Amino acid sequence: MKEKSGEVPNGRADEKVRPIDLANPPDTALSLRRDFLKMGILGLSGIISTMALYPLIKLAKAKTPPRPLKFVDALLISEMPEVGVKKIALYETPGGRAYARVFIKRSPDGRLTALSAVCSHLGCIVNYDRLKDRFVCPCHGGIYDGNGKNIAGPPPAPLKNLPVRISGAYIQVGIRKPPV
Ligand code: FES
Repeated sequence: MKEKSGEVPNGRADEKVRPIDLANPPDTALSLRRDFLKMGILGLSGIISTMALYPLIKLAKAKTPPRPLKFVDALLISEMPEVGVKKIALYETPGGRAYARVFIKRSPDGRLTALSAVCSHLGCIVNYDRLKDRFVCPCHGGIYDGNGKNIAGPPPAPLKNLPVRISGAYIQVGIRKPPV
C-alpha cells in the first residue's frame, strides 16, 4: 500500500512531520547557533591573545635579575665545634621569623662548608643525624649523605651548597636574601 505524504509510517495518523524552515529557523535553534558561534569566537580570541602574550611573559621573566648574594654573620667562630655540624637559623631582626636555615660543617681537615637546610623535594627543613653523619628529611624520608648529596628517597637533587667565609670573629654565609 502506498503511504500518503504527511503521514508517519508506523505512527499515528494525526502525527505530521513538520519540515524545518531553514530561512526562518525556530528561536531555540537560532539562539543555540548564536551561542555556539559566540563561544567559538571567544575561545579563538583567548588562544590568539595567549599566543601573543607568551613571548612578552617569557621576556619579562628572563629580565628579572637574581637577587644579589649577601654575606651575613651566621655564627661566632668560637661557637663552632672543632669537627661537626651546627644548624643555624638566620633572622632579619632578633625574635623575627627566620628567612633561612643552614648547616655549617667543619670537616676533620678544618674545611668549612655551608648547606641550605631546605629539602630539594618539597622544601621541608631537614635534620642532621650526628651518629650516621647524614641529613634526613622528616616529611617523606629523603636522605642526604654528610656532604648533602641526595642518596635515598624522593629528593631529586643535593642540598644547596652555600658560599662560606670567615670575617672577623664570624663565620659568614652567602645567601640571596628574600626582599624585606
Ligand atoms: S620534602 Fe623532603 S623528602 Fe619530601
